[in-house]
Amino acid sequence: MMRRLVFFSTAVFWLVVLVLALTTGNNGEPMRNERPAAKADKLVTMAEVARHARSEDCWMVIDTQVYDLTAYLPEHPSKPSIILPWCGKEASEAYKTKTKGRPHSEQADQALANYAIGRVE
Ligand code: HEM
Repeated sequence: MMRRLVFFSTAVFWLVVLVLALTTGNNGEPMRNERPAAKADKLVTMAEVARHARSEDCWMVIDTQVYDLTAYLPEHPSKPSIILPWCGKEASEAYKTKTKGRPHSEQADQALANYAIGRVE
């Protein structure tokens, strides 16, 4: 009787551990895609992007996605002079290299996805 009880409680314990391991991650938050893909589909022209080339109104194109980065600029860890020249432009190469041959982190990719507003063809 006692052995059965021990067996069943052990089985239940590991079942609970398994279910928790499969359904959670990120400090108990439900699991989600590590790299949320930007998914704004609205078509925008490069001419329109070029009209948003100021720190108070800054759009960029990275891998055909258009991002409105106005709200993010004050958060960016570099000097403003590093990122501002890319407002209104195609900035894939700059983003992928930080203009120093080093890629941005996954955290940066995730932040970027929040600002997608459309895409260019
Ligand atoms: C497209 C022009 C951009 C350039 C030239 C650029 C350049 C840089 C530089 C020089 C640094 C600091 C030094 C370093 O970490 O090596 C940096 C850090 C960082 N940038 Fe950018 N950046 C750009 C756009 C962006 C965008 C659009 C985001 C996100 C929305 C972003 C997010 C970050 C983050 C989170 C860091 C901290 C380090 C890391 O996580 O990689 N950057 N960037």
